[in-house]
Amino acid sequence: MNLKELATRLGLSPTTVSRALNGYPEVNETTRERVMAAAKRHNYRPNTRAIRLATGRAMAVGHVIPVATRHEIVNPVFADFIAGAGETYSRNDYDMVLSVVPDAEEENTYRALKSKGNVDGVILHAPKLDDPRIPLLHDIGLPFVVHGRSTGAALSYPWVDVNNRRAFQRATEFLLDLGHRRIALVNGLEFMDFAVRRRTGYLDALAARAIAPDPSLMVSEEMTEISGFRAGQAMLSLPDPPTAFLASSMISGMGVRRAVEAAGLKMGRDISIIIHDDDLSYMKNGEDVPIFTATRSSVREAGQIAAEMLLSLIAHPLPEAPHRLLEADLICPALIRQLVLKGPHMLPARSQFPDGFLFGTATSAYQIEGHGQGGAGRTHWDDFAETPGNVVRAETGARACDHLTRWPADLDLIRDANLDVYRFSASWARVLPEGRGQVNAAGLDFYDRLVDGMLERGIKPALTLYHWELPSALADLGGWRNRDVADWFADYTQVLMRRIGDRVWSVAPVNEPWCVGWLSHFLGLHAPGLRDIRATARAMHHVLLAHGRAVQVMRDLGHRNIGAVCNLEWATAADESPEAQAAAARYDAIYNRWFLGGIFRKEYPALALEGLGPHMPANWQDDMAVIGQPVDWCGLNYYTRKVIAPDPGPWPHYAEVEGPLPKTQMGWEIFPEGLENFLLRAQTEYARGLPIFVTENGMASPEVPVVDGEVDDPERTDYLAQHLQAVRRAIAKGANVQGYYCWSLMDNFEWSLGYEKRFGLVHVDFDSLKRTPKSSYHALARALARNA
Ligand code: FCB
Repeated sequence: MNLKELATRLGLSPTTVSRALNGYPEVNETTRERVMAAAKRHNYRPNTRAIRLATGRAMAVGHVIPVATRHEIVNPVFADFIAGAGETYSRNDYDMVLSVVPDAEEENTYRALKSKGNVDGVILHAPKLDDPRIPLLHDIGLPFVVHGRSTGAALSYPWVDVNNRRAFQRATEFLLDLGHRRIALVNGLEFMDFAVRRRTGYLDALAARAIAPDPSLMVSEEMTEISGFRAGQAMLSLPDPPTAFLASSMISGMGVRRAVEAAGLKMGRDISIIIHDDDLSYMKNGEDVPIFTATRSSVREAGQIAAEMLLSLIAHPLPEAPHRLLEADLICPALIRQLVLKGPHMLPARSQFPDGFLFGTATSAYQIEGHGQGGAGRTHWDDFAETPGNVVRAETGARACDHLTRWPADLDLIRDANLDVYRFSASWARVLPEGRGQVNAAGLDFYDRLVDGMLERGIKPALTLYHWELPSALADLGGWRNRDVADWFADYTQVLMRRIGDRVWSVAPVNEPWCVGWLSHFLGLHAPGLRDIRATARAMHHVLLAHGRAVQVMRDLGHRNIGAVCNLEWATAADESPEAQAAAARYDAIYNRWFLGGIFRKEYPALALEGLGPHMPANWQDDMAVIGQPVDWCGLNYYTRKVIAPDPGPWPHYAEVEGPLPKTQMGWEIFPEGLENFLLRAQTEYARGLPIFVTENGMASPEVPVVDGEVDDPERTDYLAQHLQAVRRAIAKGANVQGYYCWSLMDNFEWSLGYEKRFGLVHVDFDSLKRTPKSSYHALARALARNA
């Protein structure tokens, strides 16, 4: 896109657009923000020289490199940091100014950079204890970010650092767990801050096991190959030599390895070595399988993050100095796929939750049962899936996991994972093939046996009455657009609950009303695949009316422990602009506040009614009392957040943009903080004291082959661990969270994404239908064992 095209799109003159982008004060703030947002969306960038002239900025960042007498900064680690930072600069049209100067000239160089206006900020490298450059840069008034930290610095300062102390503590613990007692530390120079932190971590781990550190096993040197070699040689010739080494870099680790081999020993067999791996781009610690066991954190990524932090400080100075602490993984070549032990991300044990906290897993009928069997009626999901283009690879739920016949073994898997509750759903069309009238006896029998099967195994049955497979006969009558759906649903509720209601532990009428309403009628991504605002408004209201009617019916039958299950997505505004904030608030209203608002407050958010109001059924206000029937608990399904930008299109005037966080196979960002936020929000604004359950949470990951009966999915364990920690934080802050269900027990039919997206704790081979528990399943079972 060029300037002219962008200007035409915005209905502004090219001069105004150019001035707005280049920061000329003549353009007012609102226009400027609108232009900036559009430029970002269309990937248009103005010419750098013009920005320099307009803003007086240098559009450059400085790196001052002292040619130190005792420490060589210009090493591969530095090169990778610079590569990472450089990528960020280029993306933002910034240049890099590298000044390599004698030690004594450092101060003058910084002063000159500032006075000549050559750079807009600097990155400070290799900080020492109480580094004098920090007060100096404060004094000069040049924005800066420290790569690392400086213990003892009196002033606060922005920094990006890896958690060196924790990394070395964990590595030492790992060696201690393996039985090592003579562990050597080949450290960097200990006037450098990182080296002090690494030694502290090492010493802490030894102290925790009451092992006195041995000075002959600790060296602090420049991290070169030769110094590693010499340290290794010297220590291995001690009368009581070490059995393991911890080396502060890959390079010194190579030296240690040379010493080990020169002594006729074998790494891994006679001597263990753990290195710190900066994930260097041209000195890889192995490709798929690392050579060294290592604590790993990418220094290139640290460079990117530090550069981003600095550029944002240049653009918007902050009152508080920002910082970012990166955690190192502990990686180990021992297994076929490397074992990744994430320090802070181990699964918390059952004992770390309040007494009585329940753990469960969730599935749904259409996704696992095999809808083609057992006399079930046709559903709108069969219709949708059989229509070309709707489902990946044109897959359907006709066979799915064949849970209909394999359910006893599936329930065994739940019991053996030490889970307490099973959240399952019943299919309306399996109970009532036409949605109304004639009952399918085989269908009711199936749910009856299934519930008994859970009870026999000590599993609490948590029933969902509707998880999306509307009988086609009712879809023919308008489905969720037809107000009568609420009564049809109430009748179905009665038929099913009369049969199994005496034994189910909890019930939720509808799974994720947002999906029933918005996803299926506005976005058209789920059955019935409509893209129609009027249909949406009606479906979003009727689904809640159906919820309320079902609650009434169940109360009349005397049932208790009835709740509601809503899915939520945290909305993060794409930038600071009021437009982006408003867009995110609108997203939040439609996605998160409409359904909880209806059920728990008998009201819909104004920001959503803005667009939906004109399309609502007549006298909808009169239904709010039914919708807001009291319930006994509040269930939240949570997976991700979305980054939301304003969009000039029709209401709701927003667009999702790609976020920067690591993503799952679904492309969903991993953002556990969102779960914590929602639990606290539910506590204060909606559930207000009622028990809250995380009724779904989990991730999809690409299929990993079954090797020797094992499927290794460390990423899922990590995801669950991070979210369980978020639950613990919310509890600590006062949220009444009483349970957590992982989605899902096994790989299954992931709706329009077919069988490719695998959410299971248990792997399913969709040819043989064989189940294989994944490593995450085993990790969960261990964490939940009552005697653990
Ligand atoms: C939830 C649904 C569930 C599954 C997961 C991934 O929205 O309730 O059926 O699709 O997402």
